[in-house]
Amino acid sequence: MEKNTSSSSKGGLSLFPKIRENLSQIPVKIAVMSGKGGVGKTTVCAWLALSLKKLGFKVAVFDADFTGPNIAYAIKEKVVSLKAKAVGTEDNYTIIPPEVDGIKVVSSSMILDEGKALIWRGPLKFKLFQELLAFSDLRDVDILLIDLPPGTGDESLNLAQMIPDAKVIIVYQPATLAVEDVKRSMDFAKTLNLEILAIVENFSYAVCPKCGEKFDIFDGAKLKVEPDLKLPILKEKAFEELFDFVQKKVIPRLKK
Ligand SMILES: Nc1ncnc2c1ncn2[C@@H]1O[C@H](COP(=O)(O)OP(=O)(O)OP(=O)(O)O)[C@@H](O)[C@H]1O
Ligand SMILES: [Mg+2]
Repeated sequence: MEKNTSSSSKGGLSLFPKIRENLSQIPVKIAVMSGKGGVGKTTVCAWLALSLKKLGFKVAVFDADFTGPNIAYAIKEKVVSLKAKAVGTEDNYTIIPPEVDGIKVVSSSMILDEGKALIWRGPLKFKLFQELLAFSDLRDVDILLIDLPPGTGDESLNLAQMIPDAKVIIVYQPATLAVEDVKRSMDFAKTLNLEILAIVENFSYAVCPKCGEKFDIFDGAKLKVEPDLKLPILKEKAFEELFDFVQKKVIPRLKK
């Protein structure tokens, strides 16, 4: 995308009505959150997207991790150069998001050259967050997934403000530190009235390739609530596990 997307929203909250309008046609929005980094949010988000697509839904992913935008890689399992087209005028344009394996991807990596960092402070990221949500063509999308960076900082707050009807899937790993941090994510969701759709324990265990025995990778710390999905260490995409989880836990809860 050649456009400088940070130029056209002048006032702080000026794009909120446009965002609401643009997203109002999408029936389901699900954000993937965690307390701690590296627990597998992006991986779970990518596998969710692929499972939902396989079930016949039209899926888009908003990569809200502007400093580590890697959802396209997680979907495709290789480096993808994302290029979006912007059509229209400076003040009223539409971004046509690229597709990766049939999934629309809206990401800051669309405006970055490969390997280049987005070195922006909060206010500029806030503008980009708004503009991507306000101007991306997401017509016909059934489910919008949002891949968040870890924690309860700016991007999570942006999400709660800009997509208040988003439901949340929380990912953690069974290690004391991650469990302590994920409690804060759960509190964040509760405080901001974001429904917790499901909880995923990732890196739940590994299986010995020689004897088949399962063993803990971390210290086995537990949350008070039982997770809806326990994902082991996997070499390949967890299609079966995620597919089953989506069919049995996610879809029925969306209909409530
Ligand atoms: N169940 C799994 N089995 C094997 N590898 C996994 C599993 N889940 C995630 N990974 C790997 O762990 C690494 C971290 O995963 P990922 O990037 O999804 O975490 P994240 O929570 O999105 O990180 P960040 O907080 O930096 O955004 C990646 O290399 C990913 O491929
Ligand atoms: Mg990530």
